[in-house]
Amino acid sequence: IDIFKACLPNRKGVFHLSKLHVVSRPGNQRRQLRTSSRSMTVMPAWVIDKYGSNDVLRFTRNASFPTINYPNEVIIKVFAAGLNPLDVGMRAGYGSATMSMQRDPLGMNQSGSEFPLILGRDVSGVVMECGLDVKYFRERDEVWAAIPPWKQGSLAEFVVLSANEISLKPKSLSHTEAAALPYVAATAWSALVNTGGLNKDNCTNKRVLILGGSGGVGTFAIQMLKAWGAHVTVSCSLNAERFVRELGADHTVDYTAGPVEEPLRALQKFDLILDNVGGDTERWALALLKPWSGAKYVTLVTPFLQNTDRLGLADGMMKTAVTVGSKALKHLMNGVHYRWGFFAPSGPALDEVRDMVDAGQIRPVVEETFSFSQVPAAMEKVEKGHARGKTVVQVGQGGDDL
Ligand SMILES: NC(=O)c1ccc[n+]([C@@H]2O[C@H](COP(=O)([O-])OP(=O)(O)OC[C@H]3O[C@@H](n4cnc5c(N)ncnc54)[C@H](OP(=O)(O)O)[C@@H]3O)[C@@H](O)[C@H]2O)c1
Repeated sequence: IDIFKACLPNRKGVFHLSKLHVVSRPGNQRRQLRTSSRSMTVMPAWVIDKYGSNDVLRFTRNASFPTINYPNEVIIKVFAAGLNPLDVGMRAGYGSATMSMQRDPLGMNQSGSEFPLILGRDVSGVVMECGLDVKYFRERDEVWAAIPPWKQGSLAEFVVLSANEISLKPKSLSHTEAAALPYVAATAWSALVNTGGLNKDNCTNKRVLILGGSGGVGTFAIQMLKAWGAHVTVSCSLNAERFVRELGADHTVDYTAGPVEEPLRALQKFDLILDNVGGDTERWALALLKPWSGAKYVTLVTPFLQNTDRLGLADGMMKTAVTVGSKALKHLMNGVHYRWGFFAPSGPALDEVRDMVDAGQIRPVVEETFSFSQVPAAMEKVEKGHARGKTVVQVGQGGDDL
């Protein structure tokens, strides 16, 4: 059976016979060394029992221990958890209608409630237990992942995820550093690669504008695009210009000095715009694209979740479809493409990011770290905005940097 397992292809379809010695080792040492007892039923976590401001956060030692419900799931012991603006939004109820549907599409949850809810969308840790169909990961593998918002998060000692959502963590990073990347990396990947059509082979000399380059998504996107050979212009505050240039930005524009569209209009037109800012940017940004050349505007700031929160799922989705469809059509008549970008969980995308990290092309930007007891302070930090990279919470004992 072990030989058979070792001969299975990995998720890219590549066979790894070299793994044979690990899985076929008699009395497999990996299996004797557990990171936790499987008889555990509760764990420490920060939970919320209702939506609201920071004071709804509650520490408990009795959160339900995650269980493997599908054979492709793994339980991860969390060493570090990255925070994102989405955590602050979710704490206040943002996206609750859509998330409830994703969590329980058939309405089978007898309690009828998503609470107690655990926030935290980034995880770096170690695999503690694998479902029977998990072939690519083993217990004690060090992994990182971006956690879909409809799943319980990483502000807890353990989290359960599908194997296709996780990836082996970059060897060159500590857990704290690794937890700064997955959610923003998966979002930038989804927006730039899946929606924007960019990749490592077609970026050379492409002109990309990143609106809002100094936060989590921006600091990652700058580095990935520079590694792929693009020319990157970034809008940011004056006091972040040096910071984003050190990450590789070729040109910066200070949005605090006046209407930012004016200096941007003076520049050569762009092949792609990634909008991390939203608001009125749509009014002027699409005119900065090269027309009739396949150029795209991709915004991460969309009203999709507000629509479903406000109007319910069916009407909210209908309104969303009409809004995005009419905008796309309007801009298509001017020869440019208008798109909405969304986070998409993806272990294979993180595999590619890991290789770039280990090759020294991308580094995590950890602005501030907090201990597990300081989660409310960490959330407060994210809520204040003006991020310069990422906020990370150190969760478990035993990470290489704890
Ligand atoms: N659609 C999705 O699935 C998805 C996924 C992830 C993120 N997002 C959204 O994408 C946005 C960026 O996320 P993030 O994680 O990078 O947020 P973040 O870490 O909070 O960073 C936002 C950055 O933008 C800067 N900024 C604010 N106003 C600006 C402006 N007018 N022009 C240029 N820069 C400005 C901020 O610094 P200063 O205020 O000091 O300038 C900060 O550095 C957020 O709105 C987030 O909700 C959407």
